[in-house]
Amino acid sequence: MVDLLLGLQWGDEGKGKIVDVLTKEYDIIARFQGGPNAGHTLEFDGIKHVLHTIPSGIFHKNAINIVGNGVVIDPVIFKKELDNLEKFNIDIESKLFISRKAHLILPTHRLLDAASEASKGKAKIGSTLKGIGPTYMDKTGRNGMRVGDLEFDDWKTKYRALADKHEAMIDFYNVDIQYNLAELEAEFCEGVETLKKLTFIDSEEYIFKAQAEGKKILAEGAQGSLLDIDFGTYPFVTSSNTTAAGACTGLGVAPNKVKRVLGIFKAYTTRVGSGPFPTELFDEDGAKMAKIGNEFGATTGRPRRCGWLDLVALKYAVQINGVTELIMMKADVLSGFDTIKICTAYNYKGEEIEHLPYNIEEEHVSPVFAEMKGWSKDLTGLSKVEELPAALNDYITFLEEQLHVPIKIVSVGPDRLQTIHR
Ligand code: GDP
Ligand code: IMO
Ligand code: MG
Repeated sequence: MVDLLLGLQWGDEGKGKIVDVLTKEYDIIARFQGGPNAGHTLEFDGIKHVLHTIPSGIFHKNAINIVGNGVVIDPVIFKKELDNLEKFNIDIESKLFISRKAHLILPTHRLLDAASEASKGKAKIGSTLKGIGPTYMDKTGRNGMRVGDLEFDDWKTKYRALADKHEAMIDFYNVDIQYNLAELEAEFCEGVETLKKLTFIDSEEYIFKAQAEGKKILAEGAQGSLLDIDFGTYPFVTSSNTTAAGACTGLGVAPNKVKRVLGIFKAYTTRVGSGPFPTELFDEDGAKMAKIGNEFGATTGRPRRCGWLDLVALKYAVQINGVTELIMMKADVLSGFDTIKICTAYNYKGEEIEHLPYNIEEEHVSPVFAEMKGWSKDLTGLSKVEELPAALNDYITFLEEQLHVPIKIVSVGPDRLQTIHR
């Protein structure tokens, strides 16, 4: 059976931390979509790690980590990730397998991302500029290069044809993008050599056999449901299916083999990049969340926009994904607020609605808030559920009643140990 762990908001919910916490219960951790636009942070023994492509189970001896077919891999970033791990003595070669069917991000994909964003001006997506969109465009356009191509001697011919086409496309955008392709290509080839040292697998077959042997598999989502290409706040989304179905196509797992769907959310909301965000705060409360929560993107370092919990959007995500249990992150960041606000409905075209409409741009939607009493207790040193303050328990109970799904974990700090199971 396969369990899924999915971000329910606009990403950065704390997926990396929780996958690391849960890995001891699993035999395999597998990424199924996205690429190095993801930044998954783990903290233990006083060290902070940020992973982009490598699954967050890599620090545990018991688990195999798989980069599935639905992921897009940039060999340059991948090599950097591996270099960063070198000092931790992880037996990478026997613990990390790569799907032959995963697509490769070429240097020109990154340039195309930059050109596309530059041409959009104010309407830009706020992409991480890692080449994600252009790589998935080549995948669905049936032009892409895959990891499996690297096993053939002529991969550079294929590479050249694609890169040349990309250069012509960059010219078409007619924007000022400076680059030295020879340098970028040298770096790319170095990355490819590193990637080739790892074992390439037919991951769908590997995962099928693992299931037959009764192995436990956790699929690690990247981004969040509101960044899903189909169900997110389009066009301000990423280019993959971040929702539950993405795990089936991104790993080759049959839908009836999915068991638990763990949905992870912050006790408030953040978003990095452009796009609508109905509960966004521009006041002291927002600044306080950003400061205490240290809300800066793990991949780009950009400040994350902050706001109160959007229950309308969260319900939508729970529904789309079929979430069976919830994990609430960063409860500690809300300590010290006299009042906690929760968006329970939207004012939309003069009506109060409780579902996500087609367009949640500011001019269409304004949030309706419920208020609850806050708590002042510092949560970061807590480890037992009995120690949680009453007002936080009320907040949790309210959310469980609204979402009809139990909150099984409450996270009270970035460290592996700052995790309370309920
Ligand atoms: P991911 O992309 O979903 O893995 O999340 P990120 O790593 O991008 O962002 C989550 C950030 O919050 C990281 O800096 C984590 O170290 C941090 N974090 C995770 N859980 C908690 C928590 O419960 N409390 C606090 N204060 N920080 C947390
Ligand atoms: P993790 O896995 C937060 C956002 C970008 C931008 C939009 C499109 O760490 O939660 P892209 O690079 O995909 O073209 O960017 O999506 N975005 C993320 N925001 N967390 C992420 O990943 C994100 N990956 C992409 O900021 O708004
Ligand atoms: Mg992140």
